[in-house]
Amino acid sequence: MRWGIAGTGIIASVFADAMSKVEGGTVVAIGSRTAESAGRFAAAFGVPRAHGSYQALADDPDVDVVYVATPHAQHLDVAAPSLEAGKHVLCEKPMSLSARQTTRMAEIARDNGRFLMEALWSRFLPAYRMIDEIIASGEIGDVLAVESSFGYRTDVDPASRLFALELGGGALLDLGIYPVHLAHFVLGVPSQVRATARIGETGVDEHSAVTMGFPTGALAIAHVAIRTDLAGTGRITGTEGAIEIPASMHCPLHLDVIRFAHGDHRHIETPHGDAPFSFQIDEVHRCLEAGLTESPVLPLRDSIAMATTLDRALADVGVDYPGA
Ligand SMILES: NC(=O)c1ccc[n+]([C@@H]2O[C@H](COP(=O)([O-])OP(=O)(O)OC[C@H]3O[C@@H](n4cnc5c(N)ncnc54)[C@H](OP(=O)(O)O)[C@@H]3O)[C@@H](O)[C@H]2O)c1
Repeated sequence: MRWGIAGTGIIASVFADAMSKVEGGTVVAIGSRTAESAGRFAAAFGVPRAHGSYQALADDPDVDVVYVATPHAQHLDVAAPSLEAGKHVLCEKPMSLSARQTTRMAEIARDNGRFLMEALWSRFLPAYRMIDEIIASGEIGDVLAVESSFGYRTDVDPASRLFALELGGGALLDLGIYPVHLAHFVLGVPSQVRATARIGETGVDEHSAVTMGFPTGALAIAHVAIRTDLAGTGRITGTEGAIEIPASMHCPLHLDVIRFAHGDHRHIETPHGDAPFSFQIDEVHRCLEAGLTESPVLPLRDSIAMATTLDRALADVGVDYPGA
């Protein structure tokens, strides 16, 4: 597969490095808002073609898949022309600013018969596959609670995508997607969503807690922050036992399974090597080779459902993104 990358920031670099470690794909083009930045990225990563606009990348006839690596607020505007030009798209998390935008992106992909997936790489890691297997085996019984956190202390920079409202800043969208994903992955779609947040000086949520209630009666808690260090761990508790997820809960290197009645404790190593993004890239390649337009592991309805949960949490804390 011939990949193009849209955006030349931090995650674009991580992705380009991961692509050099996977089979079946190569980065053939980079797209940026400026020719200078595209040229610098191309030189750093040995990318053959550099485009000074995202539209030029979308129009490149020798690109099969575009990886969207811009701030969330630009995801829809960057993905749409690529899909309309016949490219498949892997779009960074969160897929967009809102369920409305994510639904729109899914419609454009469907109308153009193209593959679209949110780059929620956790779902494809060995640890998350193992969590799925343990729960399906019945080892921890019926799941009653999912709790997780993700937070780190950063300095306020009003211009950065983490703090700028117009770039989709805030903890809920940037980090909340991971604990919300864990809750959805294990328990499905919540019927109740409540949130509390501390809103910072730039108008984005800097520290948020979300509680989710599910039709089974199970509860989930997601706790995220961009100004406060948090444990970064997770725990899935069932009637018979629990799965403990160490930090960082979105890419754990091991799991601990506790069975209450037996008092035993099983430690499972879940290594993902030096290119954890490669698992999601392999999924895109597998889907494209099979002619699929969605990943059966992370279908678009899941991305829309997670965006809906985040919408509800953001509405509860009073954050309203322009254009969302
Ligand atoms: N999967 C993960 O672990 C992970 C980790 C970090 C971030 N992400 C996601 O990846 C996306 C990008 O994050 P990042 O940390 O790479 O951001 P970043 O370092 O700020 O880079 C974003 C890039 O997007 C482009 N861009 C387009 N419009 C922009 C605008 N109005 N303002 C600023 N940049 C703009 C810029 O590239 P050009 O100037 O070349 O156009 C910029 O370099 C976000 O959606 C984030 O949630 C995912």
